[in-house]
Amino acid sequence: MTRETWATRAGFILAAVGSAVGLGNIWRFPWITAENGGSAFLAVYLGIVLLVGVPGLLGMFVIGRRAKRNPVGALRSLSGSNRWGFAGGFLIFSSLVLISFYSVVGGWILRYFGESVVGLVTGNVRYFANPGAAFGAASAGLDAVAFHLVFLALAAVIIVAGIRGGIEIATKWMMPAIFTLLVGLGIWASTQSGAAEAYAFYLRFDVSTLQNNFFGLLGPAAGQALFTLSLGVGTMITYASYLDEDRSLPFDGATIAVLNTIVGVLAGLVVFPLLFTLGIEPGQTGTGAGALFVGLAGAFAQLPGGTLVATAFFAVVALAALSSAISILEISVSFLVDEYGLARRRAAGLVGGLVAVTGSVCALEPSVFGFVAGTLVDILLTVGLAVCLVFVGWVMGRDAITEFRNGAGSLGQTIATPWLFGVGVLLPIFLVFTLLTTFGVDGK
Ligand code: PHE
Ligand code: NA
Repeated sequence: MTRETWATRAGFILAAVGSAVGLGNIWRFPWITAENGGSAFLAVYLGIVLLVGVPGLLGMFVIGRRAKRNPVGALRSLSGSNRWGFAGGFLIFSSLVLISFYSVVGGWILRYFGESVVGLVTGNVRYFANPGAAFGAASAGLDAVAFHLVFLALAAVIIVAGIRGGIEIATKWMMPAIFTLLVGLGIWASTQSGAAEAYAFYLRFDVSTLQNNFFGLLGPAAGQALFTLSLGVGTMITYASYLDEDRSLPFDGATIAVLNTIVGVLAGLVVFPLLFTLGIEPGQTGTGAGALFVGLAGAFAQLPGGTLVATAFFAVVALAALSSAISILEISVSFLVDEYGLARRRAAGLVGGLVAVTGSVCALEPSVFGFVAGTLVDILLTVGLAVCLVFVGWVMGRDAITEFRNGAGSLGQTIATPWLFGVGVLLPIFLVFTLLTTFGVDGK
């Protein structure tokens, strides 16, 4: 059987955007930005996306398109050594850890979506009854397990339908829907009374944060850049492995990064006006996802037309989460299909069955959830990306340059060699450095 491929160029780009645009953009990005100096942080973050994110993304693309294999098969075949296959195995492991918590959050979102459709979210904040509680603690339990399983099943169904018939078609509809709804919500949010104050808070250019704590910003900015661009677990290797003709990887990579950033910025323009209109001080309810949901559930409940707005908002988040979850699961599915010749359905069943269990552990145990979502995933992504880039620089070497140049325009031809130096030498050093600053080794 011949290996599947994307039907169109837009199909590949939209699937990759679907992977990139996710919970990271909608809850994580606005909050980290707001907490770290607003647009001053945004500037640092954009710099990292440009200098680390995009080159790193291209590294993953080069591996995938060259090998036309899943991460394990790709690293093994390109190096001719089984040892690199283990590095691929590490990526698969990381992707399973990631999806175990991601699917639980996806489940919560599905629940809020379903409840807002039937008008329940308004006035119903019982899942957030304890705003001070840690992210996971507010939503752990058997109901979280149930919704995690529903979310996982939805993702599996799309995967079973295949690359063209499932992932490509699904993301082709989902992405425009996300953009349209977000723009609509953003316009609506701008008419709310707290909008001006919210923009001032979100986008203020706090130079002092930049001056006093530049190195402190690097860690969060790099972590966010990796997570948001789906780097470090093999998703982008896998998606690029389904490319059959040579198109410009630098162009595609830049397009994906730009669209992903637009969604993140837009999400902030939706979230903060809501909270400020209701006088909810961002940060007051804790940080991160917990805060977003606590704040927003209350916000929707009090706004005129709240049910409709809540439905649109949770639809955006649910679609974004689902298209990312698909891309995470597809890594293991492609591994089983490529390496063991399993039928897609079989492979999806096996992977789904495993994640049903590991995700349930996260759904039931807040401490596990917190550790996985808060610490483990960051480490795994950073290490995974660094390993892949060392592979590109030192194992693929010239082949990486050739692959980078295939289909690239004249700018792409020129930057290929500096790019390889960047991903093979500078980026791994930078990634190790951010890992050290994150672990309290003094980076100031
Ligand atoms: N990029 C996704 C988000 O922002 C998360 C993700 C990470 C997806 C790694 C795939 C791989 O939510
Ligand atoms: Na993202």
